[in-house]
Amino acid sequence: MQPIFHVIFAQQENFEHMKYSKSLLVTAVLGIAFSSCGGGENDDNIETDAPADSIEIGVLDQHSHANVAEVKTTHLHLDLSVDFESKLLVGSVRHSIDNIAGVETMIFDSHSLTIEKVELDNGVETTFELGNYDELLGKSLSVAVLPETESVTIYYSTAPDSKALQWLAPQQTAGKSEPYLFTQGEAVLTRTWIPCQDTPGNRITYSADITVPNQLMAVMSADNPTEKDSEGKYHFEMDKPIPCYLIALAVGDLEFAALGSRTGVYAEPSMIEKSVYEFADVEKMIEVAEGLYGEYKWGRYDIIVLPPSFPFGGMENPKLTFATPTILAGDRSLVSLIAHELAHSWSGNLVTNATWDDFWLNEGFTVYFENRIMEALYGKEHSDMLFSIEYEEMLNENKAILEGEYPDDTKLKLDLVGRDPDDGMSAIAYVKGALFLMTLEEEVGREKFDVFINSYFGDHEFQTLTTEDFVVYLDENLLKPNASDFNVDEWIYGQGIPENAVQIESNRFDLVTEVSLLIPEMANAQSLGIDEAAWTTQEWMHFIRQIPAETAADKFLLLDTEFGFKNCGNSEIMAEWYIASIKHGYDGINVDMENFLINVGRRKFLEPIYTELAKSDEGLDLGRAIYEKARRNYHAISFNTVDEILGWES
Ligand code: BES
Ligand code: ZN
Repeated sequence: MQPIFHVIFAQQENFEHMKYSKSLLVTAVLGIAFSSCGGGENDDNIETDAPADSIEIGVLDQHSHANVAEVKTTHLHLDLSVDFESKLLVGSVRHSIDNIAGVETMIFDSHSLTIEKVELDNGVETTFELGNYDELLGKSLSVAVLPETESVTIYYSTAPDSKALQWLAPQQTAGKSEPYLFTQGEAVLTRTWIPCQDTPGNRITYSADITVPNQLMAVMSADNPTEKDSEGKYHFEMDKPIPCYLIALAVGDLEFAALGSRTGVYAEPSMIEKSVYEFADVEKMIEVAEGLYGEYKWGRYDIIVLPPSFPFGGMENPKLTFATPTILAGDRSLVSLIAHELAHSWSGNLVTNATWDDFWLNEGFTVYFENRIMEALYGKEHSDMLFSIEYEEMLNENKAILEGEYPDDTKLKLDLVGRDPDDGMSAIAYVKGALFLMTLEEEVGREKFDVFINSYFGDHEFQTLTTEDFVVYLDENLLKPNASDFNVDEWIYGQGIPENAVQIESNRFDLVTEVSLLIPEMANAQSLGIDEAAWTTQEWMHFIRQIPAETAADKFLLLDTEFGFKNCGNSEIMAEWYIASIKHGYDGINVDMENFLINVGRRKFLEPIYTELAKSDEGLDLGRAIYEKARRNYHAISFNTVDEILGWES
């Protein structure tokens, strides 16, 4: 049976008292909600018999069912127990709500959840209905509420394969003796562990009571314990309003070590010392960031080093960055990732993209900011190398996207209707986004640009913003005052990289390229005359990337014998080396590469390595044989990607 849809033409006056950004007003005016629990019968409603998938039409956030413009969560309280045996979270979430429009249906997002019952204030049970299942968006959860309802409590449990959750067996951890759990909410996965209004367009505070086996510690994107609780009971508070993709939980055999007065690290005991060494500069990073763009608003800044199956490099969960252990290179050479996640404390967490089509507002600003932090701390020569590495990747990706099915994905403003937001999360948002800001900086000069960025963060803190909001703000606060006719539209709504982009150069990389060009003809690797101690990780990466196409496999053996890339312990260098080796038919890496692929679940590495393998029949066979053993160690985010590359049917 088709649900009945009601197009709500909300009256503007209803919203005038609200501190909504323009974007939400648009949602309010165009929002479409369905009322399946007898609610929402408003005189202004126009009934339609639109098909189920037309629910997206006109709704600003294409990736959420929630009717946040009418009724929204302001705070949520989680009460969950973590059951490692059955791989379930079981308990409840209580939503404190603001029924702005006085509607009778509140719509949440849910995915792979079992809903037991729903109660309103004072435990009064109410009716609810789950909508049609969509693999990406899950099901809408419509709850009957009253105009005066203040809270909605949902009793539920997750599924063992809820995508936001990765349950690790002891064998997959550093200590090998205790299980581990972590969550990953961004972009649309929070609904797979919490029934909530899963749109970045709404901000909420949260609290939580989490019960775990008593030998483990729980931490969240909130105020955190530094010691284990003997009963395994933990209470958390996040008193700043955040979008719900930033609610995060990790449970494991964790220890805490302080880095500075407001910074510290959580890791398994055997990883603590290494982590403390690697992140020694974090306090300085915060000081530099504050000097650039204003006070750090979140109190503490801690980092949790997760097991290697974490599918990302880092995730900017507020107060507690989640990080891959693959940045523990032992020489602090990969810490720009921490600068990146820290920068999100401003861009992303303080000022948030309103929808996933505006993702570049989160990531482009963050890459720009990250680069400024790295420049201030380690000098321009170093930050140029870091950005060049990203820039090279972006140029390749830009080209590939332009030749593919969705060339519009090279625009900063995306249109991801009907698609997984993950699909749009390419280097375009990150690097073209940052390049746009660098080019603007060049246009008006650094001094004025920094004043602008400062006021951008200040004027929008704890708010969400669409690209269109940003364009207006940019025009009024930077371009008009400077009489600039900058080609903003081309940058944001055009494909590819505009011609006026600043030139990205690195002198040190130019020198490295010259050395790489000698490889095809070299008699031995010493003859390249490389001063090994003087080269940075990024120079080695560039060196490997620039190996000329005509280089024969035997030269790879010479290089590996001399420099030991294949098991050097630096994940970035190893990944580059495996990709180049596969391309050139050097199989001396196979044992180490297999080891790497079985242990590391970071998608950024898996994707290019398996892609390169899949290019030949022999490589594909090898890739599949390794994947057979490795897949069980990967997070859903990663194995979904690799399944596709290898044509894997599970
Ligand atoms: N917020 C992202 C991670 C993310 C993006 C998760 C999209 C889910 C969907 C995080 O800040 C990030 O960008 N991480 C990068 C590292 C960074 C240094 C470019 C990563 O994980 O590789
Ligand atoms: Zn990021």
